[in-house]
Amino acid sequence: MSKGFSHAIIEKNAFLLLILAVLTVSIGGLVEIVPLFTIETTVEHVQGVRPYSPLEQMGRNIYVREGCYLCHSQQIRSLRDEVERYGHYSLAAESMYDHPFQWGSKRTGPDLARVGGKYSNDWHYAHLIYPQSLVPESIMPRYGFLATNELKYDNIADHLKALRIVGVPYSDEEVTQARADLEAQATPGADTAELMKRYPKANLVVGNGRTVTELDALVAYLQVLGTMVDFADPAAENPQQ
Ligand code: HEC
Repeated sequence: MSKGFSHAIIEKNAFLLLILAVLTVSIGGLVEIVPLFTIETTVEHVQGVRPYSPLEQMGRNIYVREGCYLCHSQQIRSLRDEVERYGHYSLAAESMYDHPFQWGSKRTGPDLARVGGKYSNDWHYAHLIYPQSLVPESIMPRYGFLATNELKYDNIADHLKALRIVGVPYSDEEVTQARADLEAQATPGADTAELMKRYPKANLVVGNGRTVTELDALVAYLQVLGTMVDFADPAAENPQQ
């Protein structure tokens, strides 16, 4: 039987065509959906990845609100040029608490997945307020208004609770202490022992000491990006072994 002949049978039989079309489409669907059922085991756990501190989380919300992802990706691919420029390629676990994730697909500016610790806090404040003061040829917009916008964080505990619903493991204590932790991270001279216990490596931003601004939160967020996993420690990537 020639190929053309069997095709003619299918085309002339609407019911058979329907069955075969549904079958074909469902294979495509299954290939997309089935891996999601095993996502728990697909994303391997690595040492050091923790949920964002309340201040970092608020900074992240501002990052999303301002659309920074339209110019910046947050995913280092495992290609040599990327690894040499930006550092260790991104691990799935590093964005496991990101809702929504910020991998992005556009790089008008550089990738930011490991920008944490690359510059000082002062550099970030100056750069976000007026990028051209540090990089004269920069086409990045100015975000000076974030320095005068007071951060609204009355609902911070609710933010953490909402994230808990989608799987971020904030404890009850972290939810009740959210406000105190946020203020501790943004206030110079505050007692940060509890904050550091809950959120190791949290970057202390030196705000103006009076109010917490949106810029403080954004800088706290930028400074933690890509710093949670210690790649110098060989056990970090594969704690089971
Ligand atoms: C119109 C595109 C555009 C937008 C929107 C944008 N940036 Fe940029 N960004 C750039 C470009 C281009 C550079 C490289 C030149 C420079 O350093 O200013 C850059 C550089 C940076 C750097 C330094 C990265 C490095 O490794 O040197 C940081 C941090 C940064 N941007 C953060 C942000 C944040 C946060 C936002 C949102 C509030 C943002 N950017 C929005 C284009 C953009």
